[in-house]
Amino acid sequence: MTSPASSRIPGHVAIIMDGNGRWARQRGLPRIEGHRRGVETVRTVTDAGRELGLRTLTLYAFSVENWNRPQDEVGALMGLLEYYLKKELNTFVKNRIRLRTIGRTEDLPAGVQKHLNHTIAATREFTDYTLVLALNYGARTEIGDAARAYGEAVAAGKEQPGEASWERFRRYLYTADLPDPDLIIRTSGETRLSNFLLMQGAYAEFVFTPVLWPDFSKDDLAAAIAEYGKRERRYGLTSEQLQTATPA
Ligand code: FPP
Repeated sequence: MTSPASSRIPGHVAIIMDGNGRWARQRGLPRIEGHRRGVETVRTVTDAGRELGLRTLTLYAFSVENWNRPQDEVGALMGLLEYYLKKELNTFVKNRIRLRTIGRTEDLPAGVQKHLNHTIAATREFTDYTLVLALNYGARTEIGDAARAYGEAVAAGKEQPGEASWERFRRYLYTADLPDPDLIIRTSGETRLSNFLLMQGAYAEFVFTPVLWPDFSKDDLAAAIAEYGKRERRYGLTSEQLQTATPA
């Protein structure tokens, strides 16, 4: 059984990185400068997550809806992503960080896919800490893709419709081999989920912080984790039931 001390550290933290544009606007800079600073924060927070003892960190880097932004911003984000992957490969290997993605990465530019595949292959043996980049991700798209794959499995006789359950269906999600997020953080003061991990977050705790993503620091991550540590996760039970079940 998990000890009370270790259960105060969430195994899996997922972050909706928001506020790059506002950070730039406040300084009279183009939006892309906010994204550039946002990439620095991705580095800082990836390190911080490892140092604070997380096992999995998921970052919502590009949603299926983000393609509708101005084309120069989309192009710049893809350029930044490719630059980041090239630059971080050595650090991933040195710090034993496994890189994973969720989302329809097959629709990303070829250069980004090439670096993603290379980094994923180079880090696949690492087991202590996993960075998951949600790229061209949308929860409703994911559920549609999973339903299609599940339907194909039924047609192939690999699944029995009468045995359908969440436990069986979840194996067709992009996150099949990942734990559910324990804590979901959104920066920049917005309090929406924006199509992020809708099913996997069913029992997650939420922390919303006004800090804009480029300013989000290791201390801010530690503060969100401390807030998580004060919450009682009941999974539908009563507080009294939990007290009885928890060993002294
Ligand atoms: C939200 O800020 C941020 C994004 C849509 C993109 C997040 C991308 C990065 C942090 C950089 C690239 C990522 C990696 C992993 C290299 P916003 O533009 O919506 O901000 P606003 O709401 O203030 O306009």
